[in-house]
Amino acid sequence: MVTKEQLLASLSQLKDPEYGISLADLNFVRDVMIKGNHVSATVLLSNESDENKQRLQQEITAAFKKIGTEQVHLRFRPLSDFERSEAARKVQQTGVAAGSQAAAPGAAKAGVNVLDPQSGVKFIAVASGKGGVGKSTVTVNLAVALARLGKKVGLVDADIYGFSVPDMMGIEERPQAVENRIAPVERFGVKVISMGFFVEENTPVIWRGPMLGKMLRNFFSEVDWGELDYILLDLPPGTGDVALDVHQMIPHSKEIIVTTPHATAAFVAARAGAMALHTNHEILGVVENMSYYACSQCGNKDYVFGRGGGAKLAEELHTSLLAQIPLGVPDNHVSEPDYSPSVYKADTETGQIYKDVAEQVIRQLEGTRQA
Ligand SMILES: Nc1ncnc2c1ncn2[C@@H]1O[C@H](COP(=O)(O)OP(=O)(O)O)[C@@H](O)[C@H]1O
Ligand SMILES: [Mg+2]
Repeated sequence: MVTKEQLLASLSQLKDPEYGISLADLNFVRDVMIKGNHVSATVLLSNESDENKQRLQQEITAAFKKIGTEQVHLRFRPLSDFERSEAARKVQQTGVAAGSQAAAPGAAKAGVNVLDPQSGVKFIAVASGKGGVGKSTVTVNLAVALARLGKKVGLVDADIYGFSVPDMMGIEERPQAVENRIAPVERFGVKVISMGFFVEENTPVIWRGPMLGKMLRNFFSEVDWGELDYILLDLPPGTGDVALDVHQMIPHSKEIIVTTPHATAAFVAARAGAMALHTNHEILGVVENMSYYACSQCGNKDYVFGRGGGAKLAEELHTSLLAQIPLGVPDNHVSEPDYSPSVYKADTETGQIYKDVAEQVIRQLEGTRQA
């Protein structure tokens, strides 16, 4: 017997004509009752035309039958005003402007879709085996370092459950909609887009896989990036669905793996590296973060989290160790006009290390000339 979840999942490709996202995500298919091989449900209509009703009747019935239902009984009813406002809110959260889905293929052609290898944009996904190793910190600072070297840089906070980039960069504004497309927020010369822009303060993100995949796609197709040299992606930690989705969505992306020097962190990071290799993503190198604590008085280095994790991982993945970044958060102050909790200034020791990583990346991706 099919389950309600299976039935709703079978509708993931079926979009509402007005709101442009799937009926299941909109919660437009309700009261699902299953009795043996008989399924009944109520379908909410954003558009009450006979044509729409017939299309939905056919497509929903076909989707349910495809997964083993024999009889399908559907009731239809129009949306209430409240349901309309709820749906509009959902659409806004996903970053899809109302009605733009229908126009999407044309819109993609008109603008440059950065996912298209022809666009010339170089993608660098930053991955880690687990959270808390500094993956987002490294992504943000590498993006800023590339921008300081004159590159046009975009940053996609693809860690959709654990987005943190806006806060780390001290971004308070939200992206603007410009003619049905979203303009990213620019900070330190980096164009940033994050799930954090589209959810209300501190509300947990509870969307399911298909919705998240769509969200990410929108980050590329619906965002007006302008001209770019690089897009950095802060991937979710580990090797879950979203990470895999990104690998498949951007087959030409390169990758940087972040780890701490501790053996267990390097061990789980190897799995993220294996996933990159498995999906044929070239690994640019390993960044070892929180490598040591340098005593400000005597300069002595204490390797508080152990030693060698980054080098060992680089060796295992047949790549190089791009940097060892010491412990220490940026010495920025809230009163500064461009305050950000996690961006190291260019003239600090860590700022210099990130500049060095950026130069290595440019050398690898653009040849020695540029560096
Ligand atoms: N080199 C470092 N020294 C000290 N704290 C760091 C360093 N790198 C990151 N952190 C801090 O560690 C925490 C986790 O970093 P974050 O970049 O959010 O990790 P991840 O994205 O891997 O979960 C954050 O509070 C961050 O400010
Ligand atoms: Mg993070």
